[in-house]
Amino acid sequence: MPRIAVIPGDGIGTEVLAEGIKVLDAVADDLSFEQLPYGADHYLATGESITPAQMQALRAFDAIYFGALGDPRVPSNVHAKDILLGMRFSLDLYINLRPCRLLDARYCPLKDKGPDALSFTVFRENTEGLYTGIGGQFKRGTPDEVAIEAEMNTRKGVERIIRAAFAFAREHGLKSVCMSDKSNAMRHGHDLWQRVFKQVAAEYPTIESFHLFVDVLTMEMVRAPERFDVIVTNNLFGDIVTDLGAQLQGGIGLAASGNLNPEQGIAMFEPVHGSAPAIVGKGIANPLAAILSAGMLMTWLGRPQVEQRIEQAVQRCLEQDLVTPELGGTLSTSQVGDAIVRELSA
Ligand code: NAI
Ligand code: MG
Repeated sequence: MPRIAVIPGDGIGTEVLAEGIKVLDAVADDLSFEQLPYGADHYLATGESITPAQMQALRAFDAIYFGALGDPRVPSNVHAKDILLGMRFSLDLYINLRPCRLLDARYCPLKDKGPDALSFTVFRENTEGLYTGIGGQFKRGTPDEVAIEAEMNTRKGVERIIRAAFAFAREHGLKSVCMSDKSNAMRHGHDLWQRVFKQVAAEYPTIESFHLFVDVLTMEMVRAPERFDVIVTNNLFGDIVTDLGAQLQGGIGLAASGNLNPEQGIAMFEPVHGSAPAIVGKGIANPLAAILSAGMLMTWLGRPQVEQRIEQAVQRCLEQDLVTPELGGTLSTSQVGDAIVRELSA
């Protein structure tokens, strides 16, 4: 019986995860869920975000299903940093897997682009880069202030994410892997990416490998997204280009993701969006990103056919306008969840 740790978190995280669990209940009867309270309420009540022991205890689960963190009552967002970056860093979830698939052409802002043109997966490095907090401030608050944010790239870190991208391409019969960096301007760290990419690509002669500077990548994602099967890039660029990708596939309410360490058998699945404080409690948050993330979780558990069924159900709901207001529909969060469950049994 697979054990799933459920961390709804803050804001609409709790609203959309409830729908994801509804869907998981409809597609599997052997999952056991353990609800964990980590989030702003828990932090404000106890003064603790998540303890090191609680963090390590997450390793025992078969998967983690996570909503979103961020609450206006905690302006520093320190709890979110502890819990979310904590999971990514201390559990060493080095692959941030972000599929970008257009399920229905009507939701794509690009002219004349359909589902065939938009189907790629981004491998975002998730444990280093510019997000490690290495750096410092000097003479803070004075006119001479200096602020340094250092980008960390390790041979091990760069190599394992690039390898994961090629392995995924091979496993799924995909044609190409594109690596994106800014090695023309960032001559130390991104030179490492260049060298490692060439080395690993040579081990996969049947997969086409190419490189784009990240500024060119963003142009090409809009001009000719059909060029891409797999994109591999660093933490910061991956964060940014997947938000662009989210809009191409219909908006942040449709963007699913996984954070994985296959070697250690640990994975966390979450919608890409945040806690959306402005719409909390209104019942209008789109649960589809959370539901598609639940689908990815099923593939992680070795049931890819279940993810396919969930994705098809989402596609049928999109076709019939069974969606929340931000996509032009009239349904509430829970009505969308119900519609998916109905489609799954249709
Ligand atoms: P956000 O993703 O929460 O919201 C961005 C915009 O998209 C807002 O207009 C929001 O109303 C809308 N939106 C987001 N998800 C939606 C959904 N499912 N259905 C309909 N509309 C949706 O990002 P924002 O506003 O930058 O951040 C809000 C809080 O969330 C902050 O505290 C931020 O730090 C946190 N955050 C947390 C993330 C996480 O837990 N992984 C990721 C991004 C932000
Ligand atoms: Mg982002």
